[in-house]
Amino acid sequence: VHGGAGTVPSARQRTEHAGAVRAALRCGFAALDRGADAAVIAAVTSMEEAAVLNAGRGATLDAAGRVTLDAGFMEGAALRFGAVGCVTRTVTPVVLAQGLSTEGEFGCFVVGPHADALVERFGAARCEPEDLVTPRALRTWQRRTRPDRAAHAADTVGAVALDRNGRVAAAVSTGGLSGKPPGRVGDSAIAGAGFWAEAPLGACVTTGIGEAMLREGTARRCVRLLAEGLTPARAAAEAVAEVSRVSADGASAVTPCGLILVTCDGGFAIAHTSPVMIAAYASPGRRAVVRSRW
Ligand code: GLY
Repeated sequence: VHGGAGTVPSARQRTEHAGAVRAALRCGFAALDRGADAAVIAAVTSMEEAAVLNAGRGATLDAAGRVTLDAGFMEGAALRFGAVGCVTRTVTPVVLAQGLSTEGEFGCFVVGPHADALVERFGAARCEPEDLVTPRALRTWQRRTRPDRAAHAADTVGAVALDRNGRVAAAVSTGGLSGKPPGRVGDSAIAGAGFWAEAPLGACVTTGIGEAMLREGTARRCVRLLAEGLTPARAAAEAVAEVSRVSADGASAVTPCGLILVTCDGGFAIAHTSPVMIAAYASPGRRAVVRSRW
C-alpha cells in the first residue's frame, strides 16, 4: 500500500502518514482471506477515511475550492476494471469504481454527477461536497498560487495485492493535483495510466503528476515490462524512469512519481523519483515494513 509520492513531510505529517498507511496495511491484510479484490478495497477505503492523505476525506481542493475525487479498481484474472472521476458525494469513491467493475462490458468509467448518483447503488456512504473539505486542505488552497503538487506532502493512495489463489488486484484513489482546473481528471481514474492488473503478470498503481503518467501509460507499462523478462525491481525502476524523462507538459524534466507493483508469482517492488513515498508491505509470516524512502 502507499500513501503517495511527495515532498519531505514535517515530523508531524510523517507520523500521521505512517500511521494511516500502517492502518491501511492492517485492513488490507485482514481482508486478504476474501481475495485480492477485497484486500485492495479495504486498504484504500481505510486511507480515504483518514483525513491526512490526498484521497477521500483530506483530499486537495481544485482551483474553485472544491474537492473532486478520482478512483480506479482492476482485477487481473478477467481484466475487469471500474473507474470514477470528479466524485463529490462520497468519501470512498473507490467503492464506486469497484462496483462499476462488476457491471459488465460498458459503463466502466463514469464521471461527475453520474458518478455521484452511484453512491447508494454501490453501498458507499453519501456525504455533502462540503464534508470533504478539511480545514487543512482549505488552508493549503488559500496559500496556493497555481496548480501545485508540491503544496502537499503526499499525492494519491493505492494498494496492490496477491491472494492465495494467485489473483492480483489494484485500487487507487486521489483528490488529484492541488489547485487543478475544475473538471480535470488525472491518471488515477484511467486504466493503464494510474492502475493495471493482469494475470499472470501482476498489478501496479502509480502516484505523481497524472499528466505524465497519462502520457506514458505507466501502470500498464510497468506490468508489461514483466512480460519482457524484467525483474519486478527493474520493471518498476524503468517505468518511473520513463515518467521522469517526460514532464507534465511534455518537456524533458524530472517529474516526481512513484509506483507499487506486485507480481503473480509473489514478487513486488516499490519505486519512486519523488523525494519520499510513504509505503508499506506485508506477507504471511513476515513483519510489516513501513518506510518513506525506497
Ligand atoms: N496522480 C494523481 C493525479 O495527478 O491526479
